[in-house]
Amino acid sequence: MIQAIGKVFIFLLILVGLFLGIGRAITNMTGGEKKAAGVVTVSPEGGETIFWGKGRCWTCHSMGDRGSAVRCPNLGVYGEKFPLPEGQRAAERAKEREKQTGLPYTRTDYLVESIGNPSAYLVDGYKNEMAIVYAPPISLTPDEIKAVISYLQSQGGEVDIEAINNPTEISKKYWDKIHAASAAGGGDPGHGEEVFQAACLSCHALKGEGGNVGPDLSNVGTKGLKYISEAILQPSTTFTPGYETFVVIDKGGRKYVGIKTKEDASGVELILGNGEAATIARGDIKEISQDKNKSIMPEELTEALTVKDYQDVLAFMLMQKGKK
Ligand code: HEC
Ligand code: HEC
Repeated sequence: MIQAIGKVFIFLLILVGLFLGIGRAITNMTGGEKKAAGVVTVSPEGGETIFWGKGRCWTCHSMGDRGSAVRCPNLGVYGEKFPLPEGQRAAERAKEREKQTGLPYTRTDYLVESIGNPSAYLVDGYKNEMAIVYAPPISLTPDEIKAVISYLQSQGGEVDIEAINNPTEISKKYWDKIHAASAAGGGDPGHGEEVFQAACLSCHALKGEGGNVGPDLSNVGTKGLKYISEAILQPSTTFTPGYETFVVIDKGGRKYVGIKTKEDASGVELILGNGEAATIARGDIKEISQDKNKSIMPEELTEALTVKDYQDVLAFMLMQKGKK
């Protein structure tokens, strides 16, 4: 068991290491832009290649007479249900979305949303079964998604790369999500939020909600991928200042391990790992010391998380660039 745990941990470290290393190598190579051979161009032709290839859209969608998938909406002209090809249909859907939300949706906003958060709008008669194509196993990059969107625009409509490259407020939040997911190795931040609520919220607050054992994470995304991944994988070697662990032993032999929130003549106040506060009167303290080798944040966290959970929560953390 211990051995297995060690293996998972080492695997995670290697994964992150590889991933950081590769990211850095690419950045060094091209000055920040990812331009390796085989990278798709943002054009309908590039998008067509993705749609019928890596994007696996064809496994669920047909395009008019092309393709054999029947489970999901046809994205071309097809029967009474789909009189308009997606390039024109998106304009109709945008009007519907505008009515539903009161926000000024453009045709491109609708297309970005349909990929960024497919569950925001469900085509009548279909279930919430569209794949998150920027998460594993499909893991499309932002450019590949841009290309696919221009391909969809070209179906009976005008290609508008400008609109894709200059997102409105509405599509910007989806692009943020797609970029964050891609930066985190294709993690799915939507699922990452669920992981966070289950495994982290009891200690960390986000936008005013959650525990106060560890630091508020509302703005942690600005600290970058390397910092966040190390904070999760090796809490004890990456202490956040002000959150050092203290050990107090009282005269009855009871041991308290927590973060010191107050110390004065009357005694010491600690916040324990379970979120409870403990006050130990000065007269009851036998010994107080700082444990430099141990964070209250559990090292075993990574054992409880699968690799996918970890990537997903990382993607979610990278998106936290708000105020407290
Ligand atoms: C696992 C199946 C699946 C895959 C893979 C998939 N989709 Fe979908 N897609 C759906 C389903 C189901 C719906 C209808 C429910 C909804 O609206 O989310 C849908 C809806 C859509 C719509 C809205 C259609 C309309 O009538 O307005 C667009 C656009 C779309 N998908 C594009 C894509 C693209 C592009 C890809 C590939 C990058 C893709 N989908 C991959 C299942 C899939
Ligand atoms: C038992 C409480 C506890 C739990 C559960 C916990 N943490 Fe922490 N976390 C802490 C404490 C305490 C610190 C500060 C000490 C340190 O850096 O290790 C911290 C630090 C961090 C930091 C560094 C923050 C900064 O601003 O420097 C990140 C990122 C983080 N935790 C993420 C997570 C994630 C993600 C999870 C869930 C998968 C999680 N934590 C679960 C207690 C916890």
